[in-house]
Amino acid sequence: MALVESRFIRGGVPGDWSDLPVFSDDGETFEAAISIEDGTSLYGTGEIAGPLLRNGAVTETWTEQPYREDPPPDLFALEYDDQLPNLYQAHPWVLAVRADGSSFGVLADTTYRTEIDLRNGIGFSAPAPFPVIVIQGASPQEVLIKLSELTGTIELPPLWALGYQQARWSYVPATRVAEIADEFRARSIPCDVLWVDIDYMDGFRIFTFDETLFPDPAGLNAYLHDNGFKSVWILDPGVKAEPEYFVYDEGLLGDHFIREPGGDLFVAGSWPGDSVWPDYTSPETRQWWQSYLDELLGNGVDGIWIDLNEPSIVAPPTELFPEDLVHRGGGDLTPGTHARYHNVYGLLMSQATHEGMKIARPDRRPFLLSRSNYIGGQRYAAMWTGDNSASWNHLYWSVTMTLNMGLSGQPFAGPDIGGFWRAPSPELYAHWIGVGAFFPFSRTHTMQLSPDQEPWSYGPEVEALSRLAIERRYRLLPYIYTLFREASVNGLPVWRPVFFADPADVRLRGEDHAFLIGNDVLVLPDLMQTDSHPFEAPSGIWREFTLVGEDLEQMPELPVLKIRGGAIVPLGRVVQSTAQALLEPLTLLVSLDADGRAHGVLYEDDGEGYEYLARDYLLTTYTAERVGQTVEVQIGGAEGERERPDRTVEVVVVTDGGSFRGAGPETGTITVSLE
Ligand code: NOJ
Repeated sequence: MALVESRFIRGGVPGDWSDLPVFSDDGETFEAAISIEDGTSLYGTGEIAGPLLRNGAVTETWTEQPYREDPPPDLFALEYDDQLPNLYQAHPWVLAVRADGSSFGVLADTTYRTEIDLRNGIGFSAPAPFPVIVIQGASPQEVLIKLSELTGTIELPPLWALGYQQARWSYVPATRVAEIADEFRARSIPCDVLWVDIDYMDGFRIFTFDETLFPDPAGLNAYLHDNGFKSVWILDPGVKAEPEYFVYDEGLLGDHFIREPGGDLFVAGSWPGDSVWPDYTSPETRQWWQSYLDELLGNGVDGIWIDLNEPSIVAPPTELFPEDLVHRGGGDLTPGTHARYHNVYGLLMSQATHEGMKIARPDRRPFLLSRSNYIGGQRYAAMWTGDNSASWNHLYWSVTMTLNMGLSGQPFAGPDIGGFWRAPSPELYAHWIGVGAFFPFSRTHTMQLSPDQEPWSYGPEVEALSRLAIERRYRLLPYIYTLFREASVNGLPVWRPVFFADPADVRLRGEDHAFLIGNDVLVLPDLMQTDSHPFEAPSGIWREFTLVGEDLEQMPELPVLKIRGGAIVPLGRVVQSTAQALLEPLTLLVSLDADGRAHGVLYEDDGEGYEYLARDYLLTTYTAERVGQTVEVQIGGAEGERERPDRTVEVVVVTDGGSFRGAGPETGTITVSLE
């Protein structure tokens, strides 16, 4: 089947395409208009706050740190909301689902600033001509799979990157990072990763360490590793324009910085003061950037966080990169203006950093988080939703934004849990960590000088609840990892909108307070401060289940979980981090369909490295069948050459009348009595 049905489509494709594209070249704007049938629901468009359903929205692809010169009362200038047309990432992509559940997606194949107008069909306009790519599919899932054939998938992340993570701007000095690690372990709250923000640097000079605050980064990382943590350290693109600072000197020597049309260096204010910016469009510059990663990673740094790469200017934040700045290009990229390359600055920085991490450590899977990116950038970096706020609206948007990122090709997404700006109330933090523990990327983070925002910062009740929330994630991690593996193969999102359960059921199209993890787990969080949201439930059998104790349904902050009838969901045990063995034992949560059958899949491998590419993995299908008053569970097939661990499997059969348990070695049939 052809991946791309048509390029510059002019009719001949099922549906009313006769008016596509309408290029009206008035010398400035080029437009494409696609009409839609009544009852068509629109999604995607990348990182935008607001509801999941995008019909009626007008947005723009222009990667930007939100800044309002004239903020409404009670809003900080840098806070974003659903009124802004664009945020840090750019995805000129719309996913359309027709009333009958069939689907198509439209990509405006341009890196220029593009308006996406969904008020009357799908309209794109940009300042340069652009091809339009339409992908047709029997379902939205099929369209997303085809999109990933075009723009790529994530690489399988290391397992630790799927654990719970804790950040703030900044844990400083180094001893504070170690203290936070100790607190997690002392309080038995699972955590895999601690984050180190900009204050580790010497005067914000990238690739340096402050000798007083972080005298021994390798020692700090060794301490973290000894305690089962990984660490992620931040890098900004701005390079201090200071003679005798090695990155500046060497960058000048290699002519790696962005220049003005007249040939002068472009200089503006970033954290270190006057700064210059690498021109990542040039392959030589990407290589030069990579040359610094070896030493940084050599300190035991596990993952990298790249920020401000829209690119944004820090001081003053109102100053923008002039659109006539010159990018050199090279390789596949022709020289061009900043207007052309602005939207892919973050993508190219991500590519350079991701590839550099692989060169520096060929045996480790890179984990990279980038604030800015462009469609296709999921190949290089995960994303977070930037500087959100501690508000109930942002809690809701953190769900819708993660869902729409998944519908735009980026499954590895999540917000700052608890909010970046302002301080959450204990109640808000509790609700946010309750749902937040399930985000594909699950990290608490907050701004400079804000009150403590750790799971224990809100008193013993919220601490206990946070522990349970995070323990739930760890129990579900084998299932989540299996979904990440699927995303790395076919581009399907990890979090899926409820309508994925039945794309032809139009009732579900706007349901964005609940979501699915994969196909089999339905999550019903309480995202509202007052009044509960009435959920639109997908048809079929959905049975409630618990992950860590039977009393959870008493806590409204922890989302209700349901398993699809016909599914087997693999679970691990509660560990303090993925450094401990998750699958000892393996638990299979079984929910039979109306015919008394179920099946599910577990992917497992080393959790790190590339041996899985040489078939060192196991992809096991489990099946269950009702036989009289018992349920028989067995391996239904397996792929991969990894040796099957000699382990016990616990089976929990969830029925309408309660749960039934059994256990046995994985090799034979495990029989669970329903009496
Ligand atoms: C802006 C980022 O969005 C935020 O997450 C980070 O803490 C600050 N920069 C400081 O590095």
